[in-house]
Amino acid sequence: MKKIDRETVQRILDTADIVEVVSDFVHLKRRGANYIGLCPFHNERTPSFSVSKAKGICKCFSCGKGGSPVGFIMEHEQLSYNEALRYLAKKYNIEIKEHEMTDKEREEASERESMLAVNEFALNHFEQNLSETDDGRDIGLAYFRERGINDASVKKFRLGYSLDKRDDLLTAAKNKGYNEKYLIDTGLCYKADNGRVYDRFKGRVMYPVFSVSGKVVAFGGRTLRKDKDVAKYVNSPESTVYRKSYELYGLYQAKKSIVQRDKCILVEGYMDVISMHQSGVENVVASSGTSLTEGQIRLIHRFTENVTVIYDSDAAGIKASLRGIDMLLAEGLNVKVLSLPAGDDPDSFAQSHSASELEEYLERNETDFIRFKTAILLQGVENDPIKRAKVIGDIVRSISVIPDDITRSVYVKECSRMLDIEEKVLTLQIAKIINERAVKEAGKTQYQSRDNEDVAVAGNAVIADVAGRLPDRKTAEDSAGDVSRFLYPYEKEVLRYVLKYGMLDLCEACDENGNTFPIKVIEYIDDELRSDEIVFTNSGFARTYGEALNVSRATWQQDYDRQAEVLTARRLETIAKGEEEIRLTVSDLGSIAAREKALETKADNEYLESVASFSAMYIERILGSSPDDTVRQITTDLVSEKYVLSKVHTKYTKVETEQDRLADLVPRALYEWKDAILDCRIRELHRRIKEVSSQPDADGTQLRELMIQNIELMRLKSEFAKYLGERIVAPRK
Ligand code: GTP
Ligand code: MN
Repeated sequence: MKKIDRETVQRILDTADIVEVVSDFVHLKRRGANYIGLCPFHNERTPSFSVSKAKGICKCFSCGKGGSPVGFIMEHEQLSYNEALRYLAKKYNIEIKEHEMTDKEREEASERESMLAVNEFALNHFEQNLSETDDGRDIGLAYFRERGINDASVKKFRLGYSLDKRDDLLTAAKNKGYNEKYLIDTGLCYKADNGRVYDRFKGRVMYPVFSVSGKVVAFGGRTLRKDKDVAKYVNSPESTVYRKSYELYGLYQAKKSIVQRDKCILVEGYMDVISMHQSGVENVVASSGTSLTEGQIRLIHRFTENVTVIYDSDAAGIKASLRGIDMLLAEGLNVKVLSLPAGDDPDSFAQSHSASELEEYLERNETDFIRFKTAILLQGVENDPIKRAKVIGDIVRSISVIPDDITRSVYVKECSRMLDIEEKVLTLQIAKIINERAVKEAGKTQYQSRDNEDVAVAGNAVIADVAGRLPDRKTAEDSAGDVSRFLYPYEKEVLRYVLKYGMLDLCEACDENGNTFPIKVIEYIDDELRSDEIVFTNSGFARTYGEALNVSRATWQQDYDRQAEVLTARRLETIAKGEEEIRLTVSDLGSIAAREKALETKADNEYLESVASFSAMYIERILGSSPDDTVRQITTDLVSEKYVLSKVHTKYTKVETEQDRLADLVPRALYEWKDAILDCRIRELHRRIKEVSSQPDADGTQLRELMIQNIELMRLKSEFAKYLGERIVAPRK
C-alpha cells in the first residue's frame, strides 16, 4: 500500500470528529458534556461507552477499549493504522496525496495489485461456475448440498467451482485482458514441462482464502474424486500476495465475532469453519492443516487473548499438535482445549447437532490446556518413574513459556496437585528454565536491539543505582521487575500530567537579567527528571514520554503559531462585528465606550480560553493518534481515566479543578515518585547490609561505607517526608 503524506495524515486527524465517527456504529445519547452508548466491543445492557467530543476520544469504562477516531476505527473495523486513516479520509472526502514511489516500489505495488486483481477475477469466475453452469450446479453445488452447506454459507464464504477443463479459467481471464504472467504468479495456473499453461484447480470445488482486510489472496481446491492417488486438497502456492504462515482461513468472516465474544476457536479444516458458522458459532478460524505459526498466532492476538483449540478425538493428532499450543502460551494467550466425542470432527459435530447443543457442548467441555496436556501425557506412565519424570519436565517447560507471573503460579499450583509434586520443586525448576532462556536470549539480542536499548539501559541505571553497584545478571532481572512494578503508579501519575497538561504554563522562572518567562509542565518535569537522573522504568511509559517530549519540541511551536493566528483573526472579527452592532444600536458616547470595553474583554477572554484549551489538548491529541500502538493505548488510558479527587472546595466554595492546582500537584507527584525510588534504594541497601554483615569474615570497611550511605538516604527520606507532609492539601488517593 502506498504511503500517505504527513500533511494529509494531519488533515485527517484534524478533521475526524469522534462523535461522528463513533455514531456510524453506536447509537449515542447526549449526557452532559459527553455522549454515551452501548459499547460495541463487548455485550452489555447498560451503556458504559463514553465519548468526549472535546477530548476527541471515546472509551468504554467497563472493558477499557476505545481511543481517538483512528484508534476506534482500527479497533472496531480491525484495520491497520494506514487502513484506518484511509477509511476516515473517505468518510470526510479528504483527498489522499500519495508520496512519490520509487521505481521499485511502484513495480512491486503494481505487481501485487495485478495479482490481487487476477485473484478477484478468478473468485467471481469460480462463483459463477458454481451457480450458472450445469456442471457447477450438478457437481459442485450438489456436493456442497450433500455436505449440508446451505446457500447462505456458500455466499458468505464465496465458495465456487473450477470446471473440469484444463484451460477454462486461463482462457476466460486472457479474454478479459489479464496477463498470463499473473495467472502463473498467483498459482491459479501453472506452466507444465511441455511449456504449456494449465489451470491448477481443474475439477475442484473452491474455497477462497481472504486476508484480514478482505482481499482474496489464495484458494484451496478440494477434489470430488474418491481415488487415493489425487491429493484431496490443492492450495495456492506462496506468492507475493500469499504468505501461508500469516493467514488464517475464515478470519475475515470471523473477526467481528472473535472480538465480540473475546475468544477465537481454532479448528483444522475449511469445512469445520463453514459448518460451525452455519450453526451460529462464528468465531472460528482454521490453520488449514499446517501446524500453527507464530505469524498466525500474532494475528489471533490482534483480536483476542483467548483461544480454544478443538481436536478430533484421535490421539495421534493431539500429541502432534501439543507443540503448537506451547507457542500459543508463549504469545501470552489463554489456551483452552476441547475434544470432541470419538469419531466426530467439528464439521460433523456441528452438522449433527443444533446450534444450542453446539454452544452448550463448547461451553461445558472446554478444559484448561495445561490440565489437558498433563492428563494426556500421564496416560499409561503412572508406574514408570523415568517416563513420569520426562512428562513432568515437559509440562514444566510448557508452564515456563507463559509470560505472566500470576498465570504461571496458578498453573504451578494446579500441576503440583495433578502430578503430586511439591509446588516448591516445580517453581524452582521453572525458574531455572526461565533463567537459562533469559541468558540465551540476552546473548542473542545484544547486538540487535537498538530500539529498546536506551530504555533498558536507563532502567538498569536506576537499578544499578538502587543496588549501589553493578548488579549481577540474575538479581538485576529480578529486581528490575520488582522495582518497575513498585514504581508503576508513581510513573503513571507523572506521565498523566505530561499527557494532559504538558503544554500548559506551570510557573514562572527568571533569567539572569531578571526577565521572567513561563515554564511549561513538560519542561518542568523534564528538568526535574534530568537533574535527578530519573527515567521511566516501564518501557511503554518511557516510549510515550519520549514521544511527548518530541512533539513538544518538534511540531509545537509551528502548530501553536498557526493556531494563534487563526484565533487572533477570530478575535478581531468578533470585535469588529460587535463594534458595528454597538454603533448601530447605542447612541450616547459614554455607554458606547463602556460597551466597547466590555466587548474587548470578552473577546480577549475567548481568545485566552481557546489558546489554553488548544495547549492543554495538544499532546494528548497527537499521541492519542500515534501510529505506535503502545503510545496510543497508554495515552488514551491515562487521559480518560476517571478520577474522583482533584476538586477542592475552598471556603467560598468555588470549585477548583485539577488544572487550577497544577503548581501544587505536579511537584508533588514528582516528589512522591522520587520518594518511592528512595524507598527502593533503602530496601536494597538494607538487604546488602544484612548480607555483608552475615558473612563470617565480614568486611568492616565495606560495612561502614554502607552505613554511611544509609544515613545519607535516611536524611533524604526525612526531607521528602517533610515536604510531602507540609504540602498535604488533599487526602491521598
Ligand atoms: P473434508 O474432507 O471435505 O471434510 O475437508 P476438511 O476441510 O475437513 O479437511 P481435513 O480435515 O481433511 O484437513 C484439514 C485441512 O488440511 C484442510 O482444510 C486442508 O487445508 C488441509 N489438507 C487436507 N488434505 C490436504 C491435502 O491433500 N493437501 C494439502 N495441501 N492440504 C490438505
Ligand atoms: Mn472434514
